Amino acid sequence: MSRFWRPGSERPQPSSLSVLEDDEPGFLPFSTLASNSSYGYGGLERHRQRLPVFKYRTAILYLLETHATTIIVGETGSGKTTQIPQYLKEAGWADGGRVVVCTQPRRLAVQTVASRVAEEMDVKLGEEVGYTIRFEDLTKSAVTRIKFLTDGVLLREMMDDPLLSKYSVVMVDEAHERSLSTDMLLGLLKKIQRRRPELRLIISSATIEAKSIAAFFNQSKKKLPASRDFGPSREPAILSVEGRGYDVQIHFLEEPVSNYLQAAVSTVLDIHNQEPMGDVLVFLTGQDDIDAAVQMLTDEAQNLAAHRSGLLVLPLYAGLSRAEQELVFSPTPRGKRKVVIATNIAETSLTLEGMVYVVDSGFSKQRFYNPITDIESLVVAPISKASARQRAGRAGRVRPGKCFRLYTEEYFESEMPLEGIPEMQRSNLVSCVIQLKALGIDNILGFDWLASPSPEGMIRALEVLYSLGILDEDSKLTSPTGFQVAEMPLDPMLSRMIISGSQFGCSEEMIIIAAFLSLQSIWVIGRGTQKELDEAKQGFAVAEGDHITYLNVYKGFLLSGKSSQWCHKNLINYQAMKKVLEIREQLHKLVQRLGLVLKSCGQDTQVVRKAITSGFFAHACRLESSSHGGMYKTIRTSQEVYIHPSSVLFRVTPKWVVYHSLVSTDCQYMRNVIAVDSSWFTELAPHFFQI
Ligand code: CDP
Ligand code: MG
Repeated sequence: MSRFWRPGSERPQPSSLSVLEDDEPGFLPFSTLASNSSYGYGGLERHRQRLPVFKYRTAILYLLETHATTIIVGETGSGKTTQIPQYLKEAGWADGGRVVVCTQPRRLAVQTVASRVAEEMDVKLGEEVGYTIRFEDLTKSAVTRIKFLTDGVLLREMMDDPLLSKYSVVMVDEAHERSLSTDMLLGLLKKIQRRRPELRLIISSATIEAKSIAAFFNQSKKKLPASRDFGPSREPAILSVEGRGYDVQIHFLEEPVSNYLQAAVSTVLDIHNQEPMGDVLVFLTGQDDIDAAVQMLTDEAQNLAAHRSGLLVLPLYAGLSRAEQELVFSPTPRGKRKVVIATNIAETSLTLEGMVYVVDSGFSKQRFYNPITDIESLVVAPISKASARQRAGRAGRVRPGKCFRLYTEEYFESEMPLEGIPEMQRSNLVSCVIQLKALGIDNILGFDWLASPSPEGMIRALEVLYSLGILDEDSKLTSPTGFQVAEMPLDPMLSRMIISGSQFGCSEEMIIIAAFLSLQSIWVIGRGTQKELDEAKQGFAVAEGDHITYLNVYKGFLLSGKSSQWCHKNLINYQAMKKVLEIREQLHKLVQRLGLVLKSCGQDTQVVRKAITSGFFAHACRLESSSHGGMYKTIRTSQEVYIHPSSVLFRVTPKWVVYHSLVSTDCQYMRNVIAVDSSWFTELAPHFFQI
């Protein structure tokens, strides 16, 4: 290979598992296992029995009878997510109106595993097997027996049903990811178990971190009554699902590279030119670099001589359409080499069959929050050794594989952190605090945390909630507004904005805006030039800012009769607009359920901007200098920030603005910005702007 690679000494640990039994031929033609449609029902049944977890079926069911909590560790692809809920149902845990529920940290994983399980059970998705993610509920309460949902949705369900009384078994899956919601759930489930000894917990994880979780469930703050004779043991059981793995040869770079994107692309081309057939999985960080890599590889593939091409390059990240997802999971056509370029979603939450080569950039996008500046940003950061091992393991599932790490062995050994930092310790805690408060947990610092959040983060969150009028002076959730905000599945600042909207007579506008803000972008990116896109935007743009521009887009879309041609003509993403309608509909129902007034303010954009400001005053900024697209400083912490080029205010630079979110690249950019009047600050949030 043209790059200088050095073979690494270590093997991925625990060794990756295989779906093959010993008596089968060692090598399978690629993707014979991958096809969803290529097997009949009988084939699926056989496939299920070959999964490593199948040998442990009886053991799992026995542990569940005898233990309140069972921790199951097994490599990605061993069948934990898709099989265990089915075993539980087959054993009667979903009889008598009860439901088996399984959480995932990622929405895309919820959708794909639910549809896979429905297919294996030969039922229609949304009936016996269903799923719920934010703004999308595909379950039928009287019919659904196995339900997949995000950890965040299960937390929300606790507000209406604090003991989760519908569920017989809660499986907290992908616990090693240590998402914010998973950590909160584990603490809360431990509490629920004291009140509901019949509830069973399964905690599943792809890494051996199980011991700390077991210790967590073992220790108890209060002395528990001695376990009754026939009750389940309170001591958690740990089960490790073993399987035989294929070796993965690890290759490190001899010299570090500065551009991992370019390095990833040329490594894929080298593999394609020099290695035997077999699919390639590339780990990059997010939609931007993945789309760029897909483009570069597709261009290259077209330049290759006809006999050389045969590359099928596909992206995989959250927010893909259903059709794009299906492409990734469908079998590789004969004679082709599939290259999937993914975020760390393919690390453990989704299983891709047939991967033989892994290219690991060594980076992922991670959330980091700084409580001092109050800025949360999604930044490209180095992964941990644990993640690097998981990534490598993806190459050895169907036959021996190779992993190309785009970093040096010295770096891996001496600089890469052993494990990632739990999200709890690097996130803005506003939503977390309000949810715990709504569940009646007032002493948040004293909560039974798996990993304690930072006191600075907590204090900052309490401050924000107080300034929004959600918590009172004793940090208690007492006001009706507070409870309404807690009920909304949105960032508390957005919820506050909607509630103000109902007080100011513009709640209809607020929920439309909230729907737009829930999406990444509504503009079609990649078709047409930047100039064309800017022109298309100008057709809707107003000097009041992006939020008002969205209202114009919405009106135009309705006037066009929700036409896809209209979207096409205006470089607007039709799928995104359909999503806006859906979310608006959901928020509409929610606002009605909360008893808020639904009203439109017509053309009065001032009242709309005031309502937004009443939720987002903490994001107020003042123009410092109009050169270079306008340099602003945040009122609260005097941080330097700039208007993002995608904003309609990029060239307008009003004196005072309020932004929705910040993205950090070379500097901090404000996305979704409105122009405001500074007198509104003291009018709407006097306690915050005292000076
Ligand atoms: O949860 P875990 O990583 O242990 O495995 P799983 O997601 O239950 O996947 C078990 C097996 O089901 C995989 O090895 C795939 O063969 C298959 N599967 C699939 O073909 N399509 C899916 N969407 C999900 C799983
Ligand atoms: Mg899984």
